[in-house]
Amino acid sequence: MFSFTNQDVLVVGGSSGIGLATAKAFAAAGARVTIASRSGEKLAAALKEIGDGSRSQVLDTGDALAVESFLAAHTWNHVVVSAAKTPSGPVRQLSLEDAHTAMESKFWGAYRVARAARIRDGGSLTIVSGFLSVRPSATSVLQGAINAALESLVRGMALEFSPVRVNAVSPGMIRTPLWSGMDDDKREAMFAAVAEKLPAKRAGEPEDIANAVLYAAATPFTTGSTIVVDGGGSIA
Ligand SMILES: NC(=O)c1ccc[n+]([C@@H]2O[C@H](COP(=O)([O-])OP(=O)(O)OC[C@H]3O[C@@H](n4cnc5c(N)ncnc54)[C@H](OP(=O)(O)O)[C@@H]3O)[C@@H](O)[C@H]2O)c1
Repeated sequence: MFSFTNQDVLVVGGSSGIGLATAKAFAAAGARVTIASRSGEKLAAALKEIGDGSRSQVLDTGDALAVESFLAAHTWNHVVVSAAKTPSGPVRQLSLEDAHTAMESKFWGAYRVARAARIRDGGSLTIVSGFLSVRPSATSVLQGAINAALESLVRGMALEFSPVRVNAVSPGMIRTPLWSGMDDDKREAMFAAVAEKLPAKRAGEPEDIANAVLYAAATPFTTGSTIVVDGGGSIA
């Protein structure tokens, strides 16, 4: 549907889940794709799935110097940030240390990439947030606040970085390795229960989010937007 032929695309967090689906979709649409994340092993496995011509870079978004030096050496048409590992829990049970770790990983990680990325005019930056920004959960309050902060950051950066466009894509619950810490039975029961409650009557797949990221990158009139892809979760 979209064409990104001869365009350079960086997907930070592209070795797994939403980022990997996004990298595959960009590659299928003709882009030269680079994926970046911390684990070289995960990157190597992901590259095999993405296909010929894709590249990888070991990068921790928590390492400001590494982020700056990698990004100073390249210019991109489109940059996507889908990298995060965030401890979660009720405010009174999540330790302050874990709360800081979550904000550090998802908010400041994206901020560092956004600040350092060199993006060509007419190109785009897309940050993956999450629907808890507008539909809070009593057991993941901070996660909602981090997502809301990112969505607000995106609106401001769309003004500052113009004519580069800046958007957020806000997923509902998506079937990715993020949930791999749960027992298989419990995870499948959780997804079935969520699907039952959602107006869309299905669980979210990483490809659903990749579609929205490619839309944001390809559409020259879309900037400062948060595109919600949550099966109706924020209204249910
Ligand atoms: N899945 C959902 O239900 C859901 C719902 C709403 C929002 N989201 C958001 O969507 C984004 C992607 O989640 P996902 O479900 O695709 O998770 P995932 O499958 O666990 O993928 C996370 C990716 O981020 C990378 N990463 C983590 N920390 C990093 C760091 N410090 N520096 C660089 N890369 C890092 C991981 O690779 P390494 O481990 O190799 O670094 C991996 O490639 C996250 O922001 C998440 O909060 C997910």
